[in-house]
Amino acid sequence: MNICVIGAGYVGLTSASVLANLGNHVICIDKNINKINELNQGIIPIFEPGLKELIVKNKSHLMFSHNLRQGIAESTILLIAVGTPSNSDGSSDLSYIYSVIDEISPHITSYKTIITKSTVPPGTNEQIIQRLQTNGVKSTLFDVVSNPEFLREGTAIQDMIHADRIVVGLSADDHRSIDIMKKMYVGLQSPYIVTSLNGAEMIKYASNSFLALKISFINELARICDQFQVNIQDVANGMGTDARISPHFLQAGLGFGGSCFPKDVRALEYSAKSKHIKPIMLEALQEVNQSQVDVYVKKIQDTLPNLKDKTISVLGIAFKANTDDIRESQALRLIEHVSKLGAKVSAYDPKASLPFEIKNVNQVLNLDESLQDADCVIIATDWGVFKELDWTHVKSLMRGNTIIDARNCLDKDQIEKNGLNYIGLARP
Ligand code: NAD
Ligand code: UGA
Repeated sequence: MNICVIGAGYVGLTSASVLANLGNHVICIDKNINKINELNQGIIPIFEPGLKELIVKNKSHLMFSHNLRQGIAESTILLIAVGTPSNSDGSSDLSYIYSVIDEISPHITSYKTIITKSTVPPGTNEQIIQRLQTNGVKSTLFDVVSNPEFLREGTAIQDMIHADRIVVGLSADDHRSIDIMKKMYVGLQSPYIVTSLNGAEMIKYASNSFLALKISFINELARICDQFQVNIQDVANGMGTDARISPHFLQAGLGFGGSCFPKDVRALEYSAKSKHIKPIMLEALQEVNQSQVDVYVKKIQDTLPNLKDKTISVLGIAFKANTDDIRESQALRLIEHVSKLGAKVSAYDPKASLPFEIKNVNQVLNLDESLQDADCVIIATDWGVFKELDWTHVKSLMRGNTIIDARNCLDKDQIEKNGLNYIGLARP
């Protein structure tokens, strides 16, 4: 099929390359001309494992352009993957979505399936239909489909190829789009969940919010376990073996960040309040997450009084491992917090960069340089390379001996065997 993907970010680039790999002809459009120029020179603007290889493999039928008009003319499917960030009141900023609708409207002269892959609040796809009609597009010339995306950064390609489910939301009178969707995704083995437009939008928010809730639950539990000398990992294992609970998303640590969980929980909270429903659970899970950095700051202060004289190596800037994304990163929040207390911070991340200058903070490009003369090392992102550190070597570089494992991802015994002081959360 001929598909125009609009937006060349994490979701747009992954969708474009996976859809091309399934045999479709794909043109991926972005209004950021630099991004498109880079892509046309073989430079991938984000770090996402496997993405470059898939783009190169499919280059005969995967194009990148900023010419939206050409993309629409050549395609029967328009797949929207632009950003939906938070407004300051927590609602979803849908201006990028509606700009796309206004930009495509004048060029829809033959039938198109318009797929919303961006995460949008309940009611948005119905608004999109109305907006297309208001813009003068005949209702016989389009159907709008909600097809939310569930990929994770760092494993985006595999998540899309082996999706747990493909959620498709349709208008009540749309009998055409489901076959088109199945043709577009032909080759994927994932089960389809077909529902209404609002239903599909809600499934996406419900899924992200539930995963965020699991994380906040385990983090709150970890705070309690910490006081009772109970190992939170034993508790997570003990709970997770119950198939009804599942072992996933029970890793205690600094809390969740990223471009989606925080903003999507806020957007669902906003949607609930717009209908006069008090979202008690959504508020509580955010409160736990927002105060989780403080739990670690307290541990740092308890262990290292006089932070003003101390040098702290923070390993990790990205919001999670295997990505360069720092949006709403808890690691970054921790760095800002610790630096405000006067400590000198030496930050290192294999892929991510500090977004701005922070007083007392220096980002170094080399792991050993970050560890050199550190009074304390904090693991803020669970990159594999940090889990595999040679602790004898680490100790030889450090001035002090404190290791704070803010992701509960290290081998405590190994660290202690090397004469270092291990501090995790609920890891007695
Ligand atoms: P992103 O910020 O990485 O990329 C969005 C891209 O859209 C940018 O390159 C931007 O230049 C482009 N764009 C904006 N307006 C445009 C226009 N009018 N025409 C052409 N291009 C335009 O965003 P993302 O992380 O890929 O997220 C996109 C959507 O997918 C969001 O709604 C997000 O919530 C959702 N989502 C993201 C993930 C993820 O892991 N990042 C996973 C699932 C769902
Ligand atoms: C998340 C969801 O997992 C995807 O299904 C969804 O498509 C995506 O959001 C989205 O809508 O954008 P992502 O944000 O890439 O994906 O990353 P996750 O692996 O879910 O991690 C999110 C955050 O939770 C990270 O900061 C991570 O460190 C934290 N986390 C995750 C924990 O603290 N504990 C866990 O057990 C799991």
